Amino acid sequence: MYGFSAKLNSALKNNEYIRDYCRGLEISGENPWDLTLTTEWKDIGKIKITSFVLSDLWALRDWWVYSLNYNSKHLFPLFPTNETLERGITNHYKNHVQRRDIIFNAWLLKEDYLTQDLENEIIGHFFLNRWGTEPEPGLAVADRFQKRKLGTLFIFILINITRLLDKKVIYIRTDIDNTASFKFYQKLGFKHIRDTELEIPVVNYKSIIRELEMDL
Ligand SMILES: CC(C)(COP(=O)(O)OP(=O)(O)OC[C@H]1O[C@@H](n2cnc3c(N)ncnc32)[C@H](O)[C@@H]1OP(=O)(O)O)[C@@H](O)C(=O)NCCC(=O)NCCS
Repeated sequence: MYGFSAKLNSALKNNEYIRDYCRGLEISGENPWDLTLTTEWKDIGKIKITSFVLSDLWALRDWWVYSLNYNSKHLFPLFPTNETLERGITNHYKNHVQRRDIIFNAWLLKEDYLTQDLENEIIGHFFLNRWGTEPEPGLAVADRFQKRKLGTLFIFILINITRLLDKKVIYIRTDIDNTASFKFYQKLGFKHIRDTELEIPVVNYKSIIRELEMDL
């Protein structure tokens, strides 16, 4: 993608929601599967966002197990919480490698180099599903880092990538019980379009799903 990192850099630097939080933004990479973004984030420190790589698997597992409370996991059921957890994470990674999805991990850098990353930790995870047909973002921020505009950064990375992929609309679904994410998406400009009932009889699951979208 010609000029991918420069275009993303300029879109994020000019973004009114995040410009006061973000210092020394640097972005490299030719396309979304090859992205590295570093910045100094207000009240948090140095963070690094990278496209999902194989060596992130264990840190992502730790993030899922230890950084999200029961409520966050329940509202964002990305991985199973039983013995199939590692398989769930590996399949997620495969979708990225095979370019069905575009997936990122956000790290808090406590050491200077990510290669010495035992001290570094994943503090957020976000992705764009079905980017080729009906792009839909997903994201979660570690509990103790929420409400510091990291979610806003993640969603604007995904929105701008969707735009650079020449898509005209971005669509999102969230459970009716997730009032925090509903307010979050509305604040950032998504429009509520409808509510639909979702039923998965095999696991006896029934819920109302809120659907939102944003024209790009
Ligand atoms: C939803 C989520 C990603 C928001 O991330 P965040 O980094 O905490 O959000 P931000 O700090 O960027 O918030 C931006 C705006 O969203 C709204 N918002 C965020 N969290 C909110 C909450 N708990 N209650 C109400 N509004 C909230 C606010 O309007 C906020 O702006 P303000 O701080 O100026 O009022 C985060 O709460 C999360 O990871 N939740 C668990 C997983 C999840 O539900 N994911 C979404 C599934 S669809």
